[in-house]
Amino acid sequence: MNTTESLKDYQRVRLLAIRSLFEIIEQSSEGTVIVDRDANIVWMNERYAKRFGLQSAEGAIGKACESVIPGSLLREVVRTGRPILLDMQDTPKEPLVVMRLPIHDDAGEVIGAIGFALFDELRSLSPMLKRYMNMQEELASTRSLLRARQTKYNFAHFIGTSAASLEVKRRARRSASTESPVLLLGETGTGKELLAQAIHNASPRAHKAFVSINSAAIPESLLEAEFFGTAPGAFTGADRKGRAGKLQIAQGGTLFLDEIGDMPLPLQSKLLRVLQEKEFEPVGSNDVIQSDVRVIAATSTDLEAAIKRGEFRADLYYRLNVLPIQVPPLRDRLDDLPALSEAILEELRSQHELNSEALELLGQHAWPGNIRELRNVLERAALLSDDLRLTVADIRAAIGTFMPMERTAPVTVEAVEHETFSAARERFDRQLIETALAQCGGKVIEAAARLGLGRSTLYKKMVALGIAESP
Ligand SMILES: Nc1ncnc2c1ncn2[C@@H]1O[C@H](COP(=O)(O)OP(=O)(O)OP(=O)(O)O)[C@@H](O)[C@H]1O
Ligand SMILES: [Mg+2]
Repeated sequence: MNTTESLKDYQRVRLLAIRSLFEIIEQSSEGTVIVDRDANIVWMNERYAKRFGLQSAEGAIGKACESVIPGSLLREVVRTGRPILLDMQDTPKEPLVVMRLPIHDDAGEVIGAIGFALFDELRSLSPMLKRYMNMQEELASTRSLLRARQTKYNFAHFIGTSAASLEVKRRARRSASTESPVLLLGETGTGKELLAQAIHNASPRAHKAFVSINSAAIPESLLEAEFFGTAPGAFTGADRKGRAGKLQIAQGGTLFLDEIGDMPLPLQSKLLRVLQEKEFEPVGSNDVIQSDVRVIAATSTDLEAAIKRGEFRADLYYRLNVLPIQVPPLRDRLDDLPALSEAILEELRSQHELNSEALELLGQHAWPGNIRELRNVLERAALLSDDLRLTVADIRAAIGTFMPMERTAPVTVEAVEHETFSAARERFDRQLIETALAQCGGKVIEAAARLGLGRSTLYKKMVALGIAESP
């Protein structure tokens, strides 16, 4: 019988082909592994064992396949009896292209499975592999970016059933369904950031990024690059390759412009262009990028006064002021105090409760730091008190400088005989700043916002007056 004739016997050819197939794949593959019907390894070649960090294949025998090959799907093949002809398998080195087949006995029962790792023989797949690896990398970095940008809040976090709170919530909810800019106005600690996140999360852009940029917290010289990104080659060093700005990162999502009142004038003009033309250029580039962001801005400073002082552009103000939401200070919504206190203590996982006098005292404080201050006070009181019922004494100790509601001026300075104007003024400045810092738990940014000052201005004043930043 010559070869051609022998190939006419189909059954025989089939068996020969099966044998050749197995041998070729087995010899040229990066690894082969066989499992029994319980997906325990019964055989593995040495090369594959080494790839998974074993001294020798013997160490793998009898072990569940996943304990040796993390993420192995051989158990699924045994369970379903269906092959997985082509798949990617991550390994400690590079990913492998794998093929997994069920093994049947003569009666057709699945008695195990065999897995081949085909990587080396599939060089032709390398462009595809490269793409796969690039995609994996991109996915990992997008995931970590998203994690970093995950928002914490939705409307359920905005506690309060006072008329003022309900009105704020109603307006904020309505703004979620439109694309117009929202302007959140309110003192420090009133919940502007919370509302911005809640609006984003209730909007059609919820599954995209929420990116915030705080004009008060970033030095003026860096703000533009932070905002618009930089073109490749525009800078030396780490930024040589170019860097995406917040506007690009927020594409498709929401850009939260915090402390917009502190935005430098040149940047205000550029922001106006983004709002009007929906386009921008990265720093050092002539490329025009189309922008698709929904803008939510917030400020604790009086923008109309800033316009009068020439510090804020009127045209930008009108652009942003489409849906203004005035978030009331805590002293104007004291009805919310019991619910807020309860929610905050619960969030702090504290078992503490306020007795009725303590709650009454909370209602007499002017809360210049608003809900953030309330939070700080309750946290401090709960920390300091072993008794689970917080009393007036606990709250007084935690509040620090108590400011009764009627008194609007936070600091009064008695005249001192023969004191010069500048010495008295310095004394007043020091007391004012120290009080603000104390009320904001030492946080300079918060104290600056409360005093209506830029952060750097407050720092300069602190240095001049010799007030140290608390550690
Ligand atoms: N209505 C509310 N219900 C529950 N918690 C609130 C509410 N409003 C604010 N908070 C809490 O108060 C703190 C301050 O809120 P947020 O940061 O949103 O204030 P803000 O207005 O952005 O302040 P700033 O102007 O200082 O940046 C946060 O811990 C927030 O969770
Ligand atoms: Mg804020």
